[in-house]
Amino acid sequence: ESADKGSYRHYMLKEIYEQPHVVKRTLSGRLSGGKILAEIMGSKANDIFKSVSSVQIVACGTSYHAGMVAKYWIEGIAGVPCRVEVASEFRYRKFKVQDNTLFVTISQSGETADTLAALRLAKTLGYSASLAVCNVAQSSLVRESDLYLMTEAGPEIGVASTKAFTTQLVALLLLTVALGRYHDLDEQQEANIVQGLHGLPELMHETLALDPAIKLMSEAFADKHHALFLGRGAQWPVAMEGALKLKEISYIHAESYPAGELKHGPLALVDSNMPVVAIAPNDELLEKLKSNLQEVQARGGQLFVFCDKSAGFSAAPGLDLIALPHVSDIIAPILYTLPLQLLSYHVAILKGTDVDQPRNLAKSVTVE
Ligand code: G6P
Repeated sequence: ESADKGSYRHYMLKEIYEQPHVVKRTLSGRLSGGKILAEIMGSKANDIFKSVSSVQIVACGTSYHAGMVAKYWIEGIAGVPCRVEVASEFRYRKFKVQDNTLFVTISQSGETADTLAALRLAKTLGYSASLAVCNVAQSSLVRESDLYLMTEAGPEIGVASTKAFTTQLVALLLLTVALGRYHDLDEQQEANIVQGLHGLPELMHETLALDPAIKLMSEAFADKHHALFLGRGAQWPVAMEGALKLKEISYIHAESYPAGELKHGPLALVDSNMPVVAIAPNDELLEKLKSNLQEVQARGGQLFVFCDKSAGFSAAPGLDLIALPHVSDIIAPILYTLPLQLLSYHVAILKGTDVDQPRNLAKSVTVE
């Protein structure tokens, strides 16, 4: 993927469609015989991971959302306590460093000023090691970290991050497994995750093929001023990322909430002018999510649901849905990101905004 748009109208669209390929590349050479090769993160990686008893993640923007997903994975799959913070907050507050904490930065560019400053600060504070998840091999972040794991997304030109995010998630899942081996993850679970990752590019192709329906759905958003994105568990940060994409390129105010928090505030905003997007894979939280969505419907809210095809939703007045292929719970956050990217892309096209260069934003924020 070179730095030209090829036959695509925008870089962002090209980068969305590159995702099956770049995910495959991010996995390439990193899996073997149902296992993840932890050495890819550096020759000292296994020794470091053995003694890690907690993880601190720091990042900005879309990369922060990847970190939020990783928190669910690192605690839920690996069984390692994990904290996540935006870099601009982390670097300016007083905090306690626990023994044996791995400091993880996530960054597409590896040059974001706040993330880099947070790493430099962390190195003075007694973290056991630093690891960068990054897309640019020659970047300051990679050079200054003890370990690194490259996302192989290739150059990302669109200011709104797409393929960098999904490859970050893939890399963070590899990290989760590498850590989990020394904690709560057994061989069978590792093999299941590896199998899920192998199947991901094909599922991404199938999901991208839903584009015509997503384009149609986007028409309901173009004249709106607000939108709400809901998810539960690891899909909450996916909802955050979906809302960020819509804000960045269509300039529609979008908020994300963990669906269980709806009744503690945002429900007051719901009416027919407030589209509510929900992410509904068929996981253990599905029934809880459905009851949250009924609360939206009961108040005349318009629902736009991205669901598993076996999740038992049917389209009805006030409920528009797009059914995704079935995917394991662990992999689901990566897959459900794609239709949200396409949705914001099509809304932006309808609004006539500058998709690749949204106003007031920069691809890489290298000054504070
Ligand atoms: C800017 C970009 C975002 C990006 C963020 C963090 O705000 O517009 O797309 O997520 O910086 O960038 P990084 O390179 O550190 O991931």
